[in-house]
Amino acid sequence: MSKQVILTGIRANNDLTIGNYFGAILPMIDMAKTRADEFQVNLFVPDLHSFTTPIKHDELQSGIWNNLRVFVAAGLPLDQPDIHIYRQSYVPAHSEMTWILDCFTGFGQMARMTQFKDKSMKLANSELQEKGAQLVKANPGDASLEIIDGAVSVGLFNYPVLMAADILLYGATFVPVGDDQTQHLEFTRDIAERLNNKFNQELFVIPQPVKEQHAFFGKDQGLRIMDLQDPTKKMSKSDETGKGVIFLSDTPEEAHKKVMSAATDSEANVRLDWEKQPGISNLLQIYGLLTRKTAEEAAAEWEGTTSYGDFKKAVADSVRSFLEQFQASLADVDDAKISQKLEVSEKTMNAQANETLLNVQRAVGLRA
Ligand code: TRP
Repeated sequence: MSKQVILTGIRANNDLTIGNYFGAILPMIDMAKTRADEFQVNLFVPDLHSFTTPIKHDELQSGIWNNLRVFVAAGLPLDQPDIHIYRQSYVPAHSEMTWILDCFTGFGQMARMTQFKDKSMKLANSELQEKGAQLVKANPGDASLEIIDGAVSVGLFNYPVLMAADILLYGATFVPVGDDQTQHLEFTRDIAERLNNKFNQELFVIPQPVKEQHAFFGKDQGLRIMDLQDPTKKMSKSDETGKGVIFLSDTPEEAHKKVMSAATDSEANVRLDWEKQPGISNLLQIYGLLTRKTAEEAAAEWEGTTSYGDFKKAVADSVRSFLEQFQASLADVDDAKISQKLEVSEKTMNAQANETLLNVQRAVGLRA
């Protein structure tokens, strides 16, 4: 019997932050390494998803390659035959399966997807703002179709169907996704069940429900690195100034400075208290990650410290030396080895995906 499949996609990105690294990439690579004996692990770059919202297209290639290099610098083994690394657009079955699934998906169900509602509303509003027109508060899908004619694409609307194809083509059972993606996973289960019933055969493996996913992967321990300037919001690349955000591409000195000027408080006490001292707690969490401790252990180390200068300097030093080491590993990554791995994986993935696609093509009458 073939192995069960664990599958996840991480979007192409040129400016990853230490929040992305410690919150998503490193746990994903560690998971791949520990599970690859028992499971087939598919890690892919969903490049077709990249422009469901507007992007700079001349930066897409470098974004894809930056991600692949970061995975390798973070310890992803390229010599493990059961870990597959591939680009979605290099397996054309993803697009074709999406079209077929589209025709069995209700417009209404799609229009209720919360991520679409949020993202389309933001896009529509920023477009309206540019025109000086009045902002919409309702779901633009309900309000008026005209306002979603501009920046909001059918691709954004269709995002979950492509995601379902990503998962179903390989019969993946375990799909680690963040909270913002759980609705898409439920949708994937839904459409798989619907087609299996309609055609009265097991066309698709049904992925495990969200509850089982959490039990399998361990529910996210609330690891969120916050913005250094505004520690009540998540560290995010979309922050305009970049002052509160540490990018993997920052020079170590730059990052050191950002930590030194992080917002704190006037409590004069280094304590883990996210309510009252979010800035200090965030620094403790960062310090813990870099020195391989939990935030609680880091807090114990600094207990009783009343002046923030030394503490901040220790955090800043650890951030600086992390970036020095990480950037050295990144510079050592061998692109030729990545290319070889992609070639082998993409060939295997095409074979697996085409098998599922052919069954579906037969079921719907496209093939004899
Ligand atoms: N939507 C995911 C995200 O934004 C990326 C993604 C695309 C994905 N296809 C997937 C994740 C399939 C898991 C499985 O993070």
